[in-house]
Amino acid sequence: NRDPDRFPEPDVLDVTRSPNPHLTFGHGIHFCFGAPLARLEARIALRMLLDRFRDLSISTYDDVTYQNPAVLVGVRHLPVDVVRP
Ligand code: HEM
Repeated sequence: NRDPDRFPEPDVLDVTRSPNPHLTFGHGIHFCFGAPLARLEARIALRMLLDRFRDLSISTYDDVTYQNPAVLVGVRHLPVDVVRP
């Protein structure tokens, strides 16, 4: 989802990007069957996180560890600074 020919500013996390022709849930006939559930879970989890903490920011990139990208692309450990409301 970082092809600069498809996405302006591909390295910016912009949840309002529209249109957003990403391939996170695959494409075509094998498009992810669980995409609506995954989106609902993400919406609920992010809302709870943002309700609980504000001013979430990444403290340092030095301690970030990643998943095995052959299995799943994503971070395993991401230290953040938070401010409680
Ligand atoms: C963030 C969470 C998820 C991501 C990123 C994701 C990603 C994907 C991707 C990329 C594919 C296509 C694989 C391919 O083309 O070979 C896929 C297929 C599929 N996903 Fe997900 N998925 C997620 C959550 C879920 C959930 C929660 C369920 C079920 C409750 C689910 C069930 C399926 C099934 C059954 C397929 C196969 C669809 C088919 O082949 O017709 N996924 N998923």
